[in-house]
Amino acid sequence: MTSSAAASDTRLFITFEGIDGAGKSSHIGALADAFRAQGRAVTLTREPGGTPLAEKLRGLLLADAMDPLCEALLMFAARRDHLQQVIEPALARGDVVISDRFTDATFAYQGGGRGFNLDVLNTLEAWVQALPDGTVRQPDLTLWFDLDPAVAAARLAGAREPDKFESESAAFFARVAQGYAARAQAQPKRFARIPADQPREAVWGNVAQAVALYLKAPA
Ligand code: TYD
Repeated sequence: MTSSAAASDTRLFITFEGIDGAGKSSHIGALADAFRAQGRAVTLTREPGGTPLAEKLRGLLLADAMDPLCEALLMFAARRDHLQQVIEPALARGDVVISDRFTDATFAYQGGGRGFNLDVLNTLEAWVQALPDGTVRQPDLTLWFDLDPAVAAARLAGAREPDKFESESAAFFARVAQGYAARAQAQPKRFARIPADQPREAVWGNVAQAVALYLKAPA
């Protein structure tokens, strides 16, 4: 990241994505700190969650078994509240918005992992993320932590009590990884692939470089 670019008023909605265990967490906080050090206000948030209502839905989504349509609808219901209450107001204020996951996770987990109908997800995305000017809100930059599902599973093993998604099979996570890859292939301009099977400093170097590249030439 260069200071002049980061201090500009470029609209910035950045999302972090990847399978469970890909190691995005520490870099999310580090990126927020880097922007703050450059003088930009940062809204740091997460999905599912980010508002009182969406955090309640998160509690259900991460614990309760449910049918795939129900799961997809609750993900998007949480997202709608999050967009209206937090993300859009923050972008309008000029904050950098950094979200730990967004809609790509729905395409990867519900679409890839659960095999849920992608046309329905596309429709829900268009409804939920619709803006008054008729366009659809998308992240400006998505940092996709790409990691072999077997390596991610080994990292997670024994780390803590797994939630509903973390308890899924290796085959599920292979499909989630494919879901992310398909989404990145379909929207290559927005996605920066971060090879996550590297030492933490190297991963951070890749994150900083991807953000700097975006700031030099916003899509
Ligand atoms: P995460 O924030 O990675 O939780 P943790 O605190 O465990 O690191 O994500 C919560 C889980 O929700 C994760 O397993 C992925 C899943 N998820 C979906 O299945 N669909 C979605 O649309 C989102 C946003 C998350």
